[in-house]
Amino acid sequence: MKIAIMGYGTIGSGVKEVLDMNRAQIEKKGGEGIEIKYILARKEHIPGVEDALVTTDFSVIENDPEVELVVESIGGIHPAYEYIKSCLEKGKHVVSSNKAVVDACGSKLIRTAKEHNCNFYFEASVGGGIPVIRTLYHNYAGENVTEITGILNGTTNFILTKMREEGSSFEDTLKEAQRLGYAERDPSADIDGFDTSRKTAILLSMTSGNRCRHEDIYTEGIRNVSDIDMAYAKALGYSIKLLGSVQTVEDKYFAYVAPMMVEEQDPLYPVNGVYNGIRIVGNCLGTTMLYGMGAGKLPTASAVVSDIIAAVRHKNNFQGIGWSDKMIEIEPMGGNAFRYFLRIEGTEEGIEKELKSYFVENGKVKVHVLPGRKDEFAIISDILFEEDFLARLSAFEDETGRRVFHYLRVNSASEE
Ligand SMILES: NC(=O)c1ccc[n+]([C@@H]2O[C@H](COP(=O)([O-])OP(=O)(O)OC[C@H]3O[C@@H](n4cnc5c(N)ncnc54)[C@H](OP(=O)(O)O)[C@@H]3O)[C@@H](O)[C@H]2O)c1
Repeated sequence: MKIAIMGYGTIGSGVKEVLDMNRAQIEKKGGEGIEIKYILARKEHIPGVEDALVTTDFSVIENDPEVELVVESIGGIHPAYEYIKSCLEKGKHVVSSNKAVVDACGSKLIRTAKEHNCNFYFEASVGGGIPVIRTLYHNYAGENVTEITGILNGTTNFILTKMREEGSSFEDTLKEAQRLGYAERDPSADIDGFDTSRKTAILLSMTSGNRCRHEDIYTEGIRNVSDIDMAYAKALGYSIKLLGSVQTVEDKYFAYVAPMMVEEQDPLYPVNGVYNGIRIVGNCLGTTMLYGMGAGKLPTASAVVSDIIAAVRHKNNFQGIGWSDKMIEIEPMGGNAFRYFLRIEGTEEGIEKELKSYFVENGKVKVHVLPGRKDEFAIISDILFEEDFLARLSAFEDETGRRVFHYLRVNSASEE
């Protein structure tokens, strides 16, 4: 099969490297040879690549009937969307690693692929090298998936892991991550949670079989996680992780992205550094955990190559991985229930009654004080609906005159 690679950066060049490295096995598994006919770039010369392969003109690829598959690793929505669409309209299979285009235009592209009896694959768009899309499509085909919760962004997990290990502040750790090349100069997409929210939207679309908008997912990043929060987490046996989560309860869909306290029994707890982890819960299978490199040149390119092999195997039929055009509604954040970790000003003296009536109606209030921090204490609340919790928080501050410095939701896998 002759293929083209559009966008020859980290992932595009990684795809060529994986194809070269594992050629014999890839051809055996796919059943035929794979030859790169074109590489689409913005400049005519790419160091280490034969000039004959490089084109700056998309129409050369689009109009060459010999090209049966196109890899899109340009990133962003435009012109990636237009290029993918016109390749599919010409009956060419497309493999994309681009979460932005899959999240924003996935259902349109899947429909176009269906109309032209070819495939649009996007395994690498969520979890990089971790095979989550195909796992949901094949292995969970007979399951009612009730929950997917994941650490889906390596940059934020690297920062949070370092903060925990070194006791450093968010700002200092971000600077170090930028210096080491783990965070972008403009880190907003990662640390404000938008990258995770796009991936969470793709996972919700995969499980529901319908379209959703990542803009409708409550999204909170990690900017407000402090070294003090982290010190409490450590003392209480939690780690703090940026989680993207989707839940299905009967015909209702819940989804959010937020930094959360993760308890030690949770399989996401030991997922550290740039690694990603995805916990999937099905009604028959129970809990499965996927773990691995959620980004990086060769891990992500490996997922792209697995899609290329799938396209060779399904050369003449539309496989149907994806979701419909129908839009689903995501329930408001207030309808989710959590335990909350709260850092409260002062000592508990004089407000025991209020602590019980607002946050810990069942059982004894357990107060945690960090050595050397006499000006505040922490508690973990009962399980409360977010809407109710926010109302109680505001009433508590009004009644006691005490500030709640910060709160974090607790992800309790064992209680679900
Ligand atoms: N890097 C990862 O670990 C990773 C993991 C999972 C998914 N992804 C996704 O994979 C995609 C690619 O990421 P990347 O890290 O490989 O990005 P990258 O290193 O910036 O590569 C993108 C390449 O596309 C080229 N390009 C941009 N516009 C183009 C156009 N109009 N025509 C032809 N080429 C064009 C760029 O060329 P210039 O050099 O001229 O700008 C660059 O070489 C993104 O959607 C990303 O989210 C990346």
